[in-house]
Amino acid sequence: MRRCLPARIFQFDYNNTQMLNKINQIRQNLEAATAATAEAVEELRIKYLSKKGEVSALMADFRNIPADQKREMGQKLNELKSFVTDRINALKEQLASGADNEAANIDLTRTATPLPTGARHPLSIVKNDIIDIFAGMGFTIAEGPEIEDDWHVFSSLNFPKDHPARDMQDTFFVTRTPVDVLLRTHTSSVQTRVMEKTQPPIRIVCPGRVYRNEAISARAHCFFHQVEGLYIDKNVSFADLKQVLLNFAREMFGPETKIRLRPSYFPFTEPSAEMDISCNICGGKGCAFCKGTGWVEILGCGMVDPNVLKACGIDPDVYTGYAFGMGVERITNLKYRVKDLRMFSENDVRFLAEFESAR
Ligand code: DAH
Repeated sequence: MRRCLPARIFQFDYNNTQMLNKINQIRQNLEAATAATAEAVEELRIKYLSKKGEVSALMADFRNIPADQKREMGQKLNELKSFVTDRINALKEQLASGADNEAANIDLTRTATPLPTGARHPLSIVKNDIIDIFAGMGFTIAEGPEIEDDWHVFSSLNFPKDHPARDMQDTFFVTRTPVDVLLRTHTSSVQTRVMEKTQPPIRIVCPGRVYRNEAISARAHCFFHQVEGLYIDKNVSFADLKQVLLNFAREMFGPETKIRLRPSYFPFTEPSAEMDISCNICGGKGCAFCKGTGWVEILGCGMVDPNVLKACGIDPDVYTGYAFGMGVERITNLKYRVKDLRMFSENDVRFLAEFESAR
C-alpha cells in the first residue's frame, strides 16, 4: 500500500495532466490535418482510431484514472473520440466531393484558347457578295465547264470565224482537232449553255474562273474570275438593265454610288456598253486611283444580240434580254485596294487572313 499510494498519487497527477495534454494535442493535430488522398485519410484513421491508435491508447489508459475523475475524463475522452471520428469522416467527404467540386468549378462560359482557323479567300467573299445582291433581285446561279468548245465560248455568241474580236481574248487551246477545245475566256459561255436548255424567262448569274493567255503581271493574270448575268424575257429593256446595275452598284459600293454607261462593243450584245461607277475612293472628285476622272470601270453589258438568241434556240421576235459581265478581281480591288493581282493566287496566309476581319 505504501508503495501503492504514492504511485497512485503520482499516476493520478501524471495521467490526468498527461491525458488532458494528449487530448488537446490530438485535437489540435486533427484540426490542422489535411488529406489529399484517400490513403492519407486512412493513415489518419489508423494513427488515431485503430486498435493501436492514439485515441484507443488513451481509452486504455482510462483505467488508471482515479474514480472521482473518471466521469469528467470519460466525457472528455468520448468527446475526443467523436471529434476525431467526425473529423476523419469530414476529411473523407471533402476528398470525395473534391472531385465534383473541381468539375463544378470549371467555367463553361470561359472562351477556349482560340485555334487558328482559316479565312475565306477575298475573291470568294466578293463573289458571294455579288451573288447575294443579284439573288436578292431574283437571279439564280448557273455554272458551266471551264474546258469548253469553240461554239459555247465564241461561235454561239456571235463571234464570226476569223473575226478580230476573238483576238481580244487570248485563248488557251486544249486541242484544235477535230474541233477547238479551249479554256473558256469568259463566263458568257454559260449563257449559251443555259439558253440552249431553257426557254425564257431566264434570270441567272454565272460565277466562275476564266483563262487568258496573258503574261502575268500586277495588272494581268492568266486566270481570273467573272460573274456573268443574263435576263431574258418578254419586253426586257435597256432601262431594266440600267436599274439592276444601279441597284447592284449601290449595294456593293454604298448608296451614294453613281453609275454611267459608255457605248462599247461586244459581239454578243447590241447595243453594248461599259459601266463606270463614281470612284469609291474620292467619291467622284478625282484622285490618283481614278486618274483624276472621278470614275472607274467595273463591267461590260448590253442587250443580247438577236443572233445569239437565235443560235441558242430562243425566238428574238418574242424575247429580248440583257447581259452583263464583271471581273471579281476588279471589284475586289475596288473594295479592298489590292494593287497586285498576283496576291490573289500566291496563297500568302498573312494576306488571306486580312479579309474576313475586314468586313
Ligand atoms: N464577256 C465579256 C468579257 O469577258 C464581259 C461581258 C461584256 C459580258 C458584256 C457580257 C456583256 O454579258 O454583255 O470581257
